[in-house]
Amino acid sequence: IMAIVVGCQSKEQNQSTEVGQISISEIPLEKPMDAEIKHFDLVAKKETWNIKGTSFEAWTYNGTIPGEEIRVLEGDWVKVNLKNELDEPVTIHWHGMVLPNVMDGVAGITQNAVQPGDTFSYQFNALEPGTYWYHSHQNAFEQIDRGLYGALIVEPKEKSYDKDYVLMLDEWTIGENNRGMMNMMGDGGTPGEMDSQMLYQTFSVNGKSAPNIKPINVNFGETVRLRIINAGYQKHVLYLNDHPYRVAAIDGKDLANATLTSDVLMVAPGERIDLEFTENKKKDWYIDSPNAVKESEDIQIPVNISGIEEKSDASYRDEQNLIMIDMTNQGNMNPIIDNIIQKPDVEYTMDLSAGMGMMQRGMSYTINGETFPDTEPIQVKKGDLVKVTINNNSMLDHPMHLHGHYFQVISKNGLSLVNPLVKDLINIEPHEQYEILFIADNPGDWLFHCHDLLHATGGMVTAVKYN
Ligand code: C2O
Ligand code: CU
Repeated sequence: IMAIVVGCQSKEQNQSTEVGQISISEIPLEKPMDAEIKHFDLVAKKETWNIKGTSFEAWTYNGTIPGEEIRVLEGDWVKVNLKNELDEPVTIHWHGMVLPNVMDGVAGITQNAVQPGDTFSYQFNALEPGTYWYHSHQNAFEQIDRGLYGALIVEPKEKSYDKDYVLMLDEWTIGENNRGMMNMMGDGGTPGEMDSQMLYQTFSVNGKSAPNIKPINVNFGETVRLRIINAGYQKHVLYLNDHPYRVAAIDGKDLANATLTSDVLMVAPGERIDLEFTENKKKDWYIDSPNAVKESEDIQIPVNISGIEEKSDASYRDEQNLIMIDMTNQGNMNPIIDNIIQKPDVEYTMDLSAGMGMMQRGMSYTINGETFPDTEPIQVKKGDLVKVTINNNSMLDHPMHLHGHYFQVISKNGLSLVNPLVKDLINIEPHEQYEILFIADNPGDWLFHCHDLLHATGGMVTAVKYN
């Protein structure tokens, strides 16, 4: 619809305003004087891609899966020119980034989709360092599935690590029947016949399966940050084969005092988990997935160590002792709301269900019995403290993602969480209940939806609307 004008904004316009006890900082609409400009060109186009010996036509940003990495420094002004060379409209959504509503990239909500042959210029201030990602938000279920996604990394000015690696996880339907890609929505398949958990047979890390996954190359003694991003619609489980690590950040936000663990890690669709480990084992090893046979065959990320003599390629695993790390015990460095005693201005209860037959084809995935766009929006005013209670009444996981804001997870299954966790996506397992709080500090219309995009396509979407 519109492009924002780049000019210079003085510091004074960018100060905080106080609303009750909550301080709200303004999201910069224009380039702050001292911000450096980082420019990227992304072309949405078809490309032949090969996973496990099978070639297929992928949809990509700049010809690769994941698309070209966007890596900037905290404080940078990011400009991305999108050119659409596909036959269908696309957008780019900056998942996890708090930015002005017009830059959010949601077709039909914050902009018109970019038509074939057209261009669109996105720009925003990358204020908060962290792991983010970008993906199309037009026909997203199919477009992300075909490869329209990439990593967006905002490096901190001061680093706690020597090297960092991005691991983007995804899953595919290439294989024996060689459908190339799933196209369940358009080619006669019925989306509701099965859940997305059952659709895929091939798993990838940065667009490749073992043995073609690029290794992580580490020098003995180095601290490595792994930025794990789940771009798929299934949760993925990773195991570092007994190497001690600490969870450094979740959804782009650094954690306070995460202790060392060697537990198994679960990453929900759309979620980001950063971890750090210091390489001090005298061997080469790999990160893999103990989740399911197929997944552990495909997801094997070699970690190659140099600067040490003795090597072996053995990997070991004590299947008996695999413990899943409890994310809700990990507290953030900077909670967004210190004083939770304050009464929320808005309370909204979200009951998530899945059922047959409400949509034209197959399953529907509902919020309070409705499918988008008939779901009731969360109506807020700027400055409101908003509490959302999410109940999962279905037998499936629902990774719920809020655009344009971070929220604080305050309780799980009725128990308050001592260590506040600040996220933009929370995976709700069957029959779980979470309460979350956020400050309405970023005016516009913002989606709040399930990031299993089969569910979102089937209706599990609502919006936060500012009055
Ligand atoms: Cu990752 Cu609505 O988005
Ligand atoms: Cu869902």
